[in-house]
Amino acid sequence: MGKALHIEESNGKLGVLIPGLGAVSTTFIAGVNAVLKGIAQPIGSLTQMGTIRLGKRTDKNVPAIKDFVPLARLEDMVFGGWDIFTDNCYQAAINAGVLDERLLNQVKNELERIEPMKAVFDKKYVKKLDGSNVKSGKTKYDLAMQLIEDCRRFKDENKLNRLIMIWCASTEIFLKPTSTHQTLSNFEQGLKNNSPDISPSMIYAYAAISSGIPFANGAPNLTVDIPALTEFARDMDVPVTGKDFKTGQTLMKTIVAPGLKARLLGLRGWFSTNILGNRDGEVLDDPDSFKTKEESKLSVLEYILQPDKYPELYNDITHKVRINYYPPRRDNKEGWDNIDVFGWLGYDMQIKINFLCRDSILAAPIVLDLVLFLDLAKRCKMRGIQEWLSFYFKSPMCAPDLYPEHDLFIQLMKLKNTLRYIKGEEPITHLGMEYYD
Ligand SMILES: NC(=O)c1ccc[n+]([C@@H]2O[C@H](COP(=O)([O-])OP(=O)(O)OC[C@H]3O[C@@H](n4cnc5c(N)ncnc54)[C@H](O)[C@@H]3O)[C@@H](O)[C@H]2O)c1
Repeated sequence: MGKALHIEESNGKLGVLIPGLGAVSTTFIAGVNAVLKGIAQPIGSLTQMGTIRLGKRTDKNVPAIKDFVPLARLEDMVFGGWDIFTDNCYQAAINAGVLDERLLNQVKNELERIEPMKAVFDKKYVKKLDGSNVKSGKTKYDLAMQLIEDCRRFKDENKLNRLIMIWCASTEIFLKPTSTHQTLSNFEQGLKNNSPDISPSMIYAYAAISSGIPFANGAPNLTVDIPALTEFARDMDVPVTGKDFKTGQTLMKTIVAPGLKARLLGLRGWFSTNILGNRDGEVLDDPDSFKTKEESKLSVLEYILQPDKYPELYNDITHKVRINYYPPRRDNKEGWDNIDVFGWLGYDMQIKINFLCRDSILAAPIVLDLVLFLDLAKRCKMRGIQEWLSFYFKSPMCAPDLYPEHDLFIQLMKLKNTLRYIKGEEPITHLGMEYYD
């Protein structure tokens, strides 16, 4: 066994601050409250339902993850957030239409108490939205200071021990990294000069890191994935992670593609299309926001299949991703994948996947796990990019000289080995020679 990291105890209450009280975040908050009341099960959450094997298979030692590492308890979470609309969390959940009213009414009191703070928002970065619950300030730096003050006040008023911030707001337009994003001093200059390179999500991330608050990004925006902020996070001992929750079609892609590669089946093309009718779908109907999402969704296959290593199998793939805004389906997405594969002697085959999924139902447990694992990371003094949380993302953040790991099963192994490492347990390699010596 190695040496366990020192883990600060999870005393007192944990504040969960969320930019964006929309479909994902209200489904998460309502869900945690429903679980606390014993109305429903936290299905899909590794922290609540997952287990971890320790030692040899013959040891039969497989504790629950939540018994193995000291995570915050659901009853210690206090929720808050920002939105450009004034609806409280109950009303926002009703509008989102993900959970049925019968369930929502059982947690109505808890949800109604959560009123959104005024958001940092600029229509230039999310063209399809317009709301009035928005802060004003002369510069982006002033806005960051207002967010820092919101966090401080929320912590004091609720007598919290510590905070986490997780971006569940709309997808912003596609931004390329520029010199403003390279160093903290450039970035702070940009905040003061109102640089167009700095989007609202970056202002939230800056405010969180400045306040020592771990930050996760559930959308594909650059946000915290820029050297200025990842280095700032390291300097401030703040863990950060992102980008873009891995749910729905991309989740399926990162389950199926590693299987095809494992059996050396070739791929000619992968066409993914879906219909989606929630507000996220409406925002993504704008080509600039879609471009951010498209980049995130397209990168997955290339990294998993490694065409440079397997040119005969994966060099010439046609990969298309389409998202169609179709209001009647609301949050219940339907996705179709047509996968053209080939096998022995080049003979063609096809795989069709028709996934009738519920986006926010798949995203909510991810939000819960990220909150709890980021809080754990902070208490273990893990700082900067948390690559072990790649499991949850379509575009995992990683060190600048690395490529991201997209294979869901490698990501899960990395996550569990990190938990073993934190506790001083041996990592599991699955070599297994010792059983036959
Ligand atoms: N549901 C999924 O499966 C999934 C998967 C991956 C990523 N995401 C991303 O998660 C995010 C949330 O998705 P959703 O379905 O809840 O969307 P949503 O449209 O229901 O909610 C987003 C909320 O953010 C608010 N908002 C926008 N800009 C804001 C700002 N600057 N500050 C504060 N609030 C702001 C909007 O008013 C809206 O209420 C989106 O970016 C989406 O792309 C969702």
